[in-house]
Amino acid sequence: MIKITSLKEEFCNRFGCDGFVYAAPGRINLIGEHTDYNGGFVLPGAVEQSIVAVIKPNGSKRVNAYACDMQMQYGFDIDDPTGPEPVHARYVYGVVREMMSAGVKVEGFDVVYGGDVPLGAGMSSSAALECCFAMAMNEIFKGGLDRMTLARIGQATEHKYIGVKCGIMDQFASMHGRRGALMRLDCRNGEFEYFPWKPVGYRLVLVNSCVKHELVGSPYNERRESCERVAELAGVETLRDCTWEQLDALKLRLSETDYRRARYVLGEADRVRNVCDAMQCGDFEAIGEQMYLTHEGLSKDYEVSCDEIDFLVEVARQCGVTGSRIMGGGFGGCTVNLVKDEMYDNFVSTAVQAYKTRFGIDCTIIPVVIGDGARRILD
Ligand code: GLA
Repeated sequence: MIKITSLKEEFCNRFGCDGFVYAAPGRINLIGEHTDYNGGFVLPGAVEQSIVAVIKPNGSKRVNAYACDMQMQYGFDIDDPTGPEPVHARYVYGVVREMMSAGVKVEGFDVVYGGDVPLGAGMSSSAALECCFAMAMNEIFKGGLDRMTLARIGQATEHKYIGVKCGIMDQFASMHGRRGALMRLDCRNGEFEYFPWKPVGYRLVLVNSCVKHELVGSPYNERRESCERVAELAGVETLRDCTWEQLDALKLRLSETDYRRARYVLGEADRVRNVCDAMQCGDFEAIGEQMYLTHEGLSKDYEVSCDEIDFLVEVARQCGVTGSRIMGGGFGGCTVNLVKDEMYDNFVSTAVQAYKTRFGIDCTIIPVVIGDGARRILD
């Protein structure tokens, strides 16, 4: 758990002792990967790992920020049309500018922030950062925007200021999370419902490979472009509306790569449906089976896995883990594993040891606790 007292102390030393405290979490996703920007369904939940900000308006037009984890101090004027260059600063600048475009009367503020969402792990540390600031500014400057609008502001920040054409899943989950519940979101119309997550006899655990092969957002954006090309040829708005028959009819007009990517997306839509059915009757074995299939699709068809992650999924399979797959955008990060209680200890120690032997890297084990969404933290 992140140490809020040390962030408050840092704020106190730099800016005075009366800041407001806001937090927004990272997320896991049970299933429904790369479906959000295709208008499909996702099944995420917020986690306890969060970004926390201590923040206070300063009566000027300037933002003075200190990012504790990077020991990085930076500032910008809210009216500056270009903003700061460091990527990390651009997240905060982007949220400020998007809030202003949405009509919120943002003013300057002082802020100290930090968190315990591992970076590059596929747990959406950047969405947590965006949502934490969007939530704080909305309340402090009385923006009156609802949570979905704030989530979209986070997404727009990724698109316009970072260059990652992400879907809405991460920011949605960070904003709407609820302790003990996953959420099924229809990414086409924003409707969602909470699903209590009580996997009696099983637990979810992340294994963080601690590798990240993607340097910028481009491989992610390329996947999205493939999907959009296929949707256009099929004459539908997004792949959500493309049937297997339509896809097969198009096969000869598509590049091999585009065809495989679209095939993954259609398959994943089926798997999300299967998992929702399995959840209704508590069939965790069926859920696990779909998770392995998702991994196969993400690895072979969508090509967003890597050797390290494929290895961790294979170790899970050999240990008898119920379900295992790469989580999030891909190219490294975590596997999400559905494990029977009695197999947990053996799986964790085997994975740590085998991974170290094979790659010389210590992976980290992150037990999943489904937590609440973005909020103000009162003393
Ligand atoms: C990243 C993006 C999300 C989503 C996932 C893949 O986390 O930010 O919008 O597309 O990848 O499911």
